[in-house]
Amino acid sequence: MSQLIIRGGRPLHGEITAQGAKNAALPILAATLLTGEEVRLGQIPHLEDVHTMKLLLEYLGAKVTENEDEVVVIAGENLIHEASYDLVSQMRASFLVAGPLLARFGKAIVPLPGGCAIGSRPVDLHLKGFQALGAKVEMSHGAVAVQADKLRGADIYLDTPSVTATENIMMAACLAEGTTVIENAAEEPEIVDLANFLNTMGARISGAGTHVIRIDGVRELHGGQYEVIPDRIEVGTYMVAAAITGGDVRINNIVVEHVKPVIAKLREAGVMVEPDVDSVTVWTNRRPKAITVKTLPHPGFPTDMQAPIMALLTIARGTSTVVETVFDNRFKHVRELNRMGANIVIDDRRALVYGVKSLVGTRVEATDLRAGAALVVAGLKAEGETIIDEVHHIDRGYVDIEKKLLSLGADIERKGNDPLYVKTQHKVN
Ligand code: EPZ
Repeated sequence: MSQLIIRGGRPLHGEITAQGAKNAALPILAATLLTGEEVRLGQIPHLEDVHTMKLLLEYLGAKVTENEDEVVVIAGENLIHEASYDLVSQMRASFLVAGPLLARFGKAIVPLPGGCAIGSRPVDLHLKGFQALGAKVEMSHGAVAVQADKLRGADIYLDTPSVTATENIMMAACLAEGTTVIENAAEEPEIVDLANFLNTMGARISGAGTHVIRIDGVRELHGGQYEVIPDRIEVGTYMVAAAITGGDVRINNIVVEHVKPVIAKLREAGVMVEPDVDSVTVWTNRRPKAITVKTLPHPGFPTDMQAPIMALLTIARGTSTVVETVFDNRFKHVRELNRMGANIVIDDRRALVYGVKSLVGTRVEATDLRAGAALVVAGLKAEGETIIDEVHHIDRGYVDIEKKLLSLGADIERKGNDPLYVKTQHKVN
């Protein structure tokens, strides 16, 4: 497996451009199953998870081609309706094909997504939504089989504002007869992006981005062209990397609105943050001040930024408090950060981060995507060499992370093979 080797202590300087959002690209790629016509997608990031989703679409029978700028999908009439175990077990988001397959073909068999390193990840809310729309749900041999002759609009209340449950139900409801209202829906920007994409295909969705989403079912959806939003978590990660190294970095191709919680928290920590129309500049030459961070569903502070910002707070002046309210086991980065000299104490869902003056490089292991990103952030500051194992976790969500950091002046190299996902450059027909 590959490793990242970082020699810390170099302030980051320069400009980078944000990638397309992984968590917008994944549901939007799944949504291409809702039509037999050609769909052209821009700003789809070259990431492991996105590649897995493309492989899954091809496994189901869709034609997927891509060039440097676009992914083109044609999910014709003769698709299979059973997703492959190997692909679904690699990535929880594969479960997002269930709603579109159910809506278009009246059935889907999707293995239950593998357990994830960040707590138990049930799909009960997805299934509750499908049942409310009139689907029969059966579990057999670790897979979920959903079936419906006809989906009918319904009022659905989500016990928690689950992002992918909201997305799965929204996609299924697009082709249901009548109106569906999702209450306590997730409000993330990626939900809005999916709704905007579906509406370009002829869906009739309103209220995305609020806690009440209304979907008026239509007979069918047509093809179209769409460009996904920039990745707010990648942007936030590089903002924190600039802050911890005492650098001066400008990140282009962003939606400022989507990174407001990170801007607010960095400013509270005494970091200078200057947003512009579609970019943000972050600079500082002082240790950050200790702050309190509490993760919440959007528009609260994003749980995916909890690990990266905790890395910054390890060297803050004073004691910070980090509360993780979304997932029940998302502190796996703490042990590794403490091995680098941080002083963090966990108490259930709360972590007390006692600021230290410096971190020391050592060999650490990425346990999941955002925990891995936190170790990169810490390694950029740590004295000496930090060796990060299991880098494939990081490649799931960050395009060319070492290339981007090198361009900002970091001393970083990748050892071992390139990201498993190698850009396949077959031309669009
Ligand atoms: C999405 O995951 C994101 N993934 C996650 O990003 C993100 O951390 C999460 O939303 C929260 O923002 C994608 O969009 C592909 P949830 P998701 O369902 O939808 C509970 C990353 O690093 N829940 O909103 O799986 C669940 O256990 C990834 O990019 C149920 O109880 O998260 C959790 O406690 C990690 N029943 C809470 O809701 C359900 O049926 C929020 O989970 C579904 C969820």
